[in-house]
Amino acid sequence: MIRGIFIAAALAAGLSSVASAQNNVIGERQQLMKGLAQAGRAPGAMLKGEQAFDLAAVQASLKTFAETAKKAPTLFPVGSETGNETAALPKIWTDKADFEAKWAKFGADAEAAQSAVKDEASFKSTFPNVVRACGGCHEGYRAKKN
Ligand code: HEC
Repeated sequence: MIRGIFIAAALAAGLSSVASAQNNVIGERQQLMKGLAQAGRAPGAMLKGEQAFDLAAVQASLKTFAETAKKAPTLFPVGSETGNETAALPKIWTDKADFEAKWAKFGADAEAAQSAVKDEASFKSTFPNVVRACGGCHEGYRAKKN
């Protein structure tokens, strides 16, 4: 009887730590995504002519994109489909190969752009293609906010 209680308590503790690990991973990927939005802000303003072109800032953003693209696919483990206000759609787990291919393409495009962007003209012709991946993935893999 006492042993049973111990086992039940140990199980409950184990399960709650699994649940909080999944909440952490959801929070972590949302934080990582906020970093993408943050990194995209200055180049976005430069594209619109609201901010002066700054090659170093653009290169820093592209580096963040490339690093994020490597890390992000690891933050959608099985078991993190729901909870913690995730906007991740089930298709991430049913169509995982395509979801991961989208990250890989985004990362490869960001890396290629690091070499291609040398001045304002090459920035303007290259950067929009890189950030097309954002909407291209959200469409289909991220729930729209009501
Ligand atoms: C291959 C897929 C993919 C790509 C590429 C992608 N995202 Fe996302 N993004 C997602 C998914 C999935 C979520 C939902 C994550 C969740 O809520 O668990 C998300 C969520 C977000 C969020 C909301 C984060 C929060 O606070 O909850 C922002 C902001 C965001 N993405 C910005 C971007 C930007 C900017 C880019 C491009 C530079 C980008 N994303 C590229 C899949 C992607």
